[in-house]
Amino acid sequence: MTLDAKLEELRRGTLAAFAAAISVEELEEARVEALGRKGTLASISKDFGKLSPEERARVGKLLNSVKQDLETEYESKKLRFEQTDLAERLAKEWIDVTLPAPGVRPGSLHPITQLQGEIEDLFTSLGFAVLYGPEVETEEHNFDALNIPATHPARDMQDTFWLSDGQLLRTHTSPVQVRGMRTLRPPLRMIAPGRVFRNEEVDASHEHTFYQLEGMMVDRDVSVANLTYFMKTLLSSIFKREVTVRLRPGYFPFVEPGFELDIRCLICNGEGCAVCKHSGWVELLPCGLVHPNVLRMSSIDPEEWGGFAFGLGLTRLAMMRYGIDDIRQLQGGDLRFLTQF
Ligand code: DAH
Repeated sequence: MTLDAKLEELRRGTLAAFAAAISVEELEEARVEALGRKGTLASISKDFGKLSPEERARVGKLLNSVKQDLETEYESKKLRFEQTDLAERLAKEWIDVTLPAPGVRPGSLHPITQLQGEIEDLFTSLGFAVLYGPEVETEEHNFDALNIPATHPARDMQDTFWLSDGQLLRTHTSPVQVRGMRTLRPPLRMIAPGRVFRNEEVDASHEHTFYQLEGMMVDRDVSVANLTYFMKTLLSSIFKREVTVRLRPGYFPFVEPGFELDIRCLICNGEGCAVCKHSGWVELLPCGLVHPNVLRMSSIDPEEWGGFAFGLGLTRLAMMRYGIDDIRQLQGGDLRFLTQF
């Protein structure tokens, strides 16, 4: 075979091998076989010495053109492989960066739930039972048995959602006092956290649905000193420091005497600031000694037993503790807000 024929054969055969290659590896193999250091082209060039100078010039040109053809074809096919490869990878490995990251993301308890849990732990350690009354209550539990008869103006203090069957959505957690007295019997210690409902216009500090935590202790010789002790213990534990409390008279039909309990302002230590409206004191919770009528209506003899009760605004307390200035955020379910706690 002449060198010309060998070169033509190499061109044809290698182009066919390039065309048949289905991977970069196969393409590379074909290239090495034809153009590599020990490849066909190299061995053909060895025979160049046998040619006359004129022949050498002519065949040399042919050799160069074969070499160039093969290299060009090799490069372009390799490029095509790389491009389809890239396209495939892009199609396969495409990710939507706007999707949430995979995996379980830990949630957290609502700030009110956290606070409620802490207070439950504290009172359980002090021997109190935790009761959860129903949210749909009878008029008797919510009002009458708490010394608020139908004709009493105190009924107007709480704007009530009445149900068509004469029941109501409890306006406070105090009806659980009645349930506690009637089931536990004295001596008893109980707290009752839960949701309460008022027909309120909603704004930054009013909600139709909020949380309270009721407390009650009925025993022999219960005095205001007992009440103050438990309230100081409660508040020091919530605010994680010693607090100073004071009692002012306050009216609630189910306690006598009734009080508003204030704490010395934790922001300014009583010097006066915006939070305490420059009074040095912050109103925190109403409380008092259980009214004899209330004991009597749950068949407890007020001559033998006495008690204290308090009604903590859980929602308000959570707002104070975490510095939340709009009550609606606590009900809104906005994760940007909730994940801070
Ligand atoms: N139940 C009252 C309310 O929601 C709060 C209250 C006041 C509860 C005095 C008490 C108490 O236990 O002794 O307005």
